Amino acid sequence: MTEIIKAKDLGMSFGDQDVFENVNFTIEKGSKTAILGENGSGKTTLIRIIMNTLYPKSGWLMICDKENGPCKIGYVPQFRDIDHDFPLSIRSFVELGAPMFKNAEYKARVAEVLDKTELTEIADYRLGRASGGQKQRAYLAQALLDNPDLIILDEATASLDPVAKETLLSLLDRLNETEKLTIVFTTHDIELARAHMNEYIFFANGTATTGSMKDFDLGVHHV
Ligand SMILES: Nc1ncnc2c1ncn2[C@@H]1O[C@H](COP(=O)(O)OP(=O)(O)O)[C@@H](O)[C@H]1O
Ligand SMILES: [Mg+2]
Repeated sequence: MTEIIKAKDLGMSFGDQDVFENVNFTIEKGSKTAILGENGSGKTTLIRIIMNTLYPKSGWLMICDKENGPCKIGYVPQFRDIDHDFPLSIRSFVELGAPMFKNAEYKARVAEVLDKTELTEIADYRLGRASGGQKQRAYLAQALLDNPDLIILDEATASLDPVAKETLLSLLDRLNETEKLTIVFTTHDIELARAHMNEYIFFANGTATTGSMKDFDLGVHHV
């Protein structure tokens, strides 16, 4: 297996407030990892370190092995509702992730990601009128546009209804199977993580433990 991310003795603090220390884990290419833990335990902080918007206090993080060349990361944020009057179509919203110069190749890529996120039929509808699940799939489509190796979803299903959650996670399963897309998914929904992720990184007591999702035990791991 190829490692796509490796953390060694990773530690982070803000001022004199420690968030976590001695965090060790490996994320393999093509794996599906849930990041779990109570609010404030450090999940988003880890994601920001992975995305290079925060620098760790101690330890190190390897993102993509140099031997395998640089890799690209796509990011889907926590669901933010889009105003009913938002004027762009779903297609135009997805295109916002593309460079200014929209050539034929990019148009084809937009069509491809709309297809992968099951938005083709409603691509010309206004995003503001779409359902929560459709809006979140539009964010996913935007994140997929640049052909990432790794996609990170930070509480991206919070506030979606159960059917929309299942639809989004099933799409991710398919992308994982067909394109070996590596998935990192932060959530409080343990059942959803159990159904769709393979591994976990669990933040508690100022550090993180890891394991196989099927062994994650709510009696032991408080979320
Ligand atoms: N930019 C920041 N400045 C100071 N403290 C922060 C900052 N970002 C996060 N924190 C603190 O770090 C801790 C972990 O936050 P976070 O990673 O957002 O938690 P989670 O995503 O698990 O809910 C919290 O106590 C939070 O208040
Ligand atoms: Mg968070």
